[in-house]
Amino acid sequence: MTNLSLKRTNDGSYTIFNDALKETYHSIHGARQEALHVFIENGLFKMPISPVRILEIGLGTGLNALLTCRNKRERLIDYVGLEPFSLSKELLKDFIEKNAEGQEEKDLWTQLMESDDVIQLENFSLTKVTLGIQDFTSIEPFDLIYFDAFAPSKQEEMWQESVFQHIAALSRKGTQVVTYCAQGQFKRNLKMAGFEVKSLPGPPGKREMTVGIKE
Ligand SMILES: C[S@@+](CC[C@H](N)C(=O)[O-])C[C@H]1O[C@@H](n2cnc3c(N)ncnc32)[C@H](O)[C@@H]1O
Repeated sequence: MTNLSLKRTNDGSYTIFNDALKETYHSIHGARQEALHVFIENGLFKMPISPVRILEIGLGTGLNALLTCRNKRERLIDYVGLEPFSLSKELLKDFIEKNAEGQEEKDLWTQLMESDDVIQLENFSLTKVTLGIQDFTSIEPFDLIYFDAFAPSKQEEMWQESVFQHIAALSRKGTQVVTYCAQGQFKRNLKMAGFEVKSLPGPPGKREMTVGIKE
């Protein structure tokens, strides 16, 4: 029996509930709303360069990749998503079915998630890597990093200074790390790893979110 199930959130979109961790993949106040606020409005739109290389830590359902592709406008995007615990095809299909806004979005999302390791669309490439951040390396640095791990209370090892030192090695001066999390110890760890730390208003239901800018 799987320990993963779908759960409706307050904006009408669905998230996944992990029963073993007793944790959801997104905010229960609104999954789609959170993704748009944190990663698109305060990530993608604040890094207006082209091409832009994006690394997502925790690809999961592909919601952030989908929204990035849909909001790319005229830009070239090279997106790498790390996910060591891929979701089953059945669960993903169900998730996309419930969350996609219209047939066009459903087809795009399905295409992105059902593809092999690399998919090249017009002005958008997605590379899926089944590694954890701790084991991932890249010669080319990233411009923007979506840090979408489970909360520090559930997966403390993801929020250690050593992880942000590793992320710093995947960054260049000015690279931005964005996350929904605003925990104090995490922010201190991010700063110790060489990022200027900024707190921004969070999505509905959450007071703050965090952006780290590589110094
Ligand atoms: C909060 S969920 C977010 C998922 C995703 N961004 C989404 O919108 O569906 C955290 C994700 O991080 C993944 N994860 C767990 N350990 C990881 C690691 N060491 N490196 C990268 N991702 C990890 C989990 O499997 C899960 O899919």
